[in-house]
Amino acid sequence: MSQTFAQISDPHLSSLEGVHARDLLNKRVFGYLSWRRKRRFEHRAEVLQALQRDLRHFSLDQLLVTGDLTHIGLPQEFEQGRAWLQQLGEPGQVALVPGNHDTCVRADWDKTFGLWRDYMTSDGGPIDGAGHASVFPSLRVRKNIAFIGVSTGCPKPPLMATGTVGTSQLNRLPALLEEAATKKLFRVVFLHHSPLPGKEKWRKRLTDAAAVQAVLSEHGVELILHGHGHRAHYNELSTRDGVAPVVAVPSASALGLHGADVARYNCYSVDRDDSGWRLEIMPRCYQPTTGEFIQGENKMVLLKR
Ligand SMILES: [Fe+2]
Ligand SMILES: [Fe+2]
Repeated sequence: MSQTFAQISDPHLSSLEGVHARDLLNKRVFGYLSWRRKRRFEHRAEVLQALQRDLRHFSLDQLLVTGDLTHIGLPQEFEQGRAWLQQLGEPGQVALVPGNHDTCVRADWDKTFGLWRDYMTSDGGPIDGAGHASVFPSLRVRKNIAFIGVSTGCPKPPLMATGTVGTSQLNRLPALLEEAATKKLFRVVFLHHSPLPGKEKWRKRLTDAAAVQAVLSEHGVELILHGHGHRAHYNELSTRDGVAPVVAVPSASALGLHGADVARYNCYSVDRDDSGWRLEIMPRCYQPTTGEFIQGENKMVLLKR
């Protein structure tokens, strides 16, 4: 019996209309000016509306959102983000990890990530953590699939779009991967930045990618999903349990005006037979001429286990 899930990334859905640069401090000013000059023309609400219409074609076991809902992480953007998440589905149906834009500066938990808490938490409901670092890694199990969310978001200096997983998550990740392996679950790790060292520009890299990759290789994973680069990529990671696809999906809202890919999201179908797991990657691609998403080129991957 196959299972289907989908991944959306980098919607950058918030509007900064009414915000003034003079009211902002430090790093947010750079982000605001970038939105004013470029990002508001690139990331479009009508594309996200088309995506929501397209999602109705699928019955999903889980919808993964790999960060960057906002531009500069203002509380009003988190409010807009929560309204959008609620349109996507109930918290138990939608699993979110933050991106670097969401963690632009240190901010009041209750006015920011606290608004998204139920979409970030593990099965079993809300946790009492006062920061998103204590929520992750998250774990949700849907039939034969374990969805493991890792946060890479933390405040960084101006003009830096880097991420860091950190020792706390790195220490807890092995037990989650091992327990899921013991239960013979298909392990999906989803995060905002690429966990492969050298795959992203230095200014946009995951600072502890080598350590993250080492944990994933040593303890095994079946599929790794990320966003951040606003481009589609397919890589592979050798692990203890075989080769795992590493899939990057472009922004869900982009028109592709500045060299990034046009909006896309991915559906994934997972099935198991005697030889192992069968994974099908099914891109859904935005067509600016029609304003709708259509099926891209499917890719089938056999994972011997
Ligand atoms: Fe982004
Ligand atoms: Fe990002």
